Amino acid sequence: MILVKTLEDLRRELDSFDKAETVGFVPTMGALHQGHLSLVAKAVEENPHVVVSIFVNPTQFNDLKDLERYPRTLARDMELLKPTGCSIVFAPNAKEVYPEPDLRKFNFGKLEEVMEGAHRPGHFNGVAQVVSRLFDMVKPDKSYFGLKDFQQLAIVKNMVKQLQLPVEIVPCAIIREESGLAMSSRNELLTKEQRENASVISTTLFKAKELMGQKSVEELTGWVVDEINKNPFLDVEYFEIVDDEQLQPVKSWNEESTKVGCVAVFCGKIRLIDNLVFN
Ligand code: PAJ
Repeated sequence: MILVKTLEDLRRELDSFDKAETVGFVPTMGALHQGHLSLVAKAVEENPHVVVSIFVNPTQFNDLKDLERYPRTLARDMELLKPTGCSIVFAPNAKEVYPEPDLRKFNFGKLEEVMEGAHRPGHFNGVAQVVSRLFDMVKPDKSYFGLKDFQQLAIVKNMVKQLQLPVEIVPCAIIREESGLAMSSRNELLTKEQRENASVISTTLFKAKELMGQKSVEELTGWVVDEINKNPFLDVEYFEIVDDEQLQPVKSWNEESTKVGCVAVFCGKIRLIDNLVFN
């Protein structure tokens, strides 16, 4: 495994690979945990060469404090990646990724008008900017994204279609802590007490799935919000039950779509997201 920080070094390493062999790519912002490592494991399983990028992308942070606070743990990340079989770790700085400011404006239509898109203006534009640039640099055959960031996955798939990029997007299951809390680099920023209480988010989603038949969509939505907000450490920003393709709010259980409950919750200053497929 080799660590490269410049595009030039990345290209040299990529050039040394047999062209007939596939390259798998896992983009991350570092502060790696088992969630990230599950993506890397899948990539290693499916490709002879795997590139992991570690880059805290400034253009996707709508909140400057969140960007400053974001954990940066490169040495530890390298230790975690060593045994995975990944070939290249690409950890560029901002100038390497954005030699000029990226002025592109993507249009994801309805996909970006809901949930994270509605609450984090510019966030998905920044994600699309960085992911498209990283794809251009790494030129992967397959790239791996977690279902934890359910809307991000939909946005990336849509971007690949719009730009007709020759890359296959592979969705990967959500990895959870023993308490059920979805793993996240931001969990590191929680106090022990907050982290324990944050498990209420996922346990409520799992209970909601059980209650599906007994309540209307509207009742269940209200129930989830109340149940999480009952916990003094937690404050729901949104909870929505949406279809898994257009990510539009579901009105009735009778609709044919696959339904996903998606939630964003503040735990103190830290914003956590989670989701669960209901049917
Ligand atoms: P980051 O939050 O570091 O996540 C990198 C990848 O790991 C994403 O695809 C995310 O969905 C996945 N992931 C995170 N936690 C997970 C969990 N508990 N289970 C499964 N997968 C999980 O998402 C980003 O970075 C950035 O937006 C990025 C795509 C790198 C662009 O900057």
